[in-house]
Amino acid sequence: MLDKLNEIEKTALESLEAINDQAALEAWRVANVGRSSPLMGIFSGLGKLSKEEKPVVGQAANRVRVALESALEERAQAVKNAALAKSLEEEQLDVTLPGRRVQLGRLHPSTQQLRRVMAILADMGFQVYTSREVETDEMNFQMLNFPPNHPARDMQDTFFVDAGERGDNPILLRTHTSPGQIHAMREYAATNPDNPPPIRIALPGMCFRYEQITARSEIQFNQVEGLVVGENITFADLKGTLVDFAHRMFGQDARTRFRASYFPFTEPSAEMDVECFVCRGKGCSVCKNSGWLEILGCGMVHPVVLQNGGYDPKRYSGYAWGMGPERQLMLRYKIDDIRYFWGNDLRFLEQF
Ligand code: DAH
Repeated sequence: MLDKLNEIEKTALESLEAINDQAALEAWRVANVGRSSPLMGIFSGLGKLSKEEKPVVGQAANRVRVALESALEERAQAVKNAALAKSLEEEQLDVTLPGRRVQLGRLHPSTQQLRRVMAILADMGFQVYTSREVETDEMNFQMLNFPPNHPARDMQDTFFVDAGERGDNPILLRTHTSPGQIHAMREYAATNPDNPPPIRIALPGMCFRYEQITARSEIQFNQVEGLVVGENITFADLKGTLVDFAHRMFGQDARTRFRASYFPFTEPSAEMDVECFVCRGKGCSVCKNSGWLEILGCGMVHPVVLQNGGYDPKRYSGYAWGMGPERQLMLRYKIDDIRYFWGNDLRFLEQF
């Protein structure tokens, strides 16, 4: 009997060693200390033993039961600890892993440049005047002294909105910001028709031209128009203002020059160049070896245009210009294809 008990204890403890999970532990408990286990069989057989044997075997069986139960408890704890250790390892957080970068939004490079231009002009005392993008032929051309069949219209390949229903005054997308000059002058003049106030404004906005899209020409682009009207405004005011602008935009040492040009709405007309800031005037691919980069058109407001705006050209004079922020950016960053601006390619946009 005692040998059998020792055998039961030995095999039970041995099989317990190999157990690693909860289900097997339960099965072991049923098999070794459960109601129909061999150990329990010994307890129920105690009654058949002699008076001398009974206490000896009873005590031994009890000892084995306590031993098996405490071994089970110990093993159960070990299995639990092992499971915990495993899940800790699996759920371990690697705090040295770099975080995911938050993608910050930003302004479009054209908008950034437009704002730089406007900030400089605001510092110089210009007020912002925004004008419409959808215009009439009258405002975009006729009031700006383009005669009906003037060849200069060909330079401004136009998107027409209505196809000819309005005779010689069709609706179109503005090809430049210059029609805003007429709107602005009329608005200012209306405040005091006999004695119109002086004007010093900058007119930013999108322009549209019906062109083949190439590396050099786009169907939409921004312009910033400037308009100054008053008594005794001269070409010297124009020059002083635009040279100062160029210094603020491109650096105090940026050299500039004016070349005679032609626009129907100014007389005289000019184009302004800045010294190429890539080669500093030596000549390179960006300035096509001329050393100079054209940045704007300008001139003294044509008397007919002043008249159309409600300003008497005998009393008032003025100057105006039109410049392109995208063009300035292309020159500054050597961007060789204007199509990048509206191509919506993040690889381009994220650089600004
Ligand atoms: N409107 C002209 C263009 O788009 C630019 C321009 C030239 C505007 C001379 C002006 C100016 O106000 O005086 O090509």
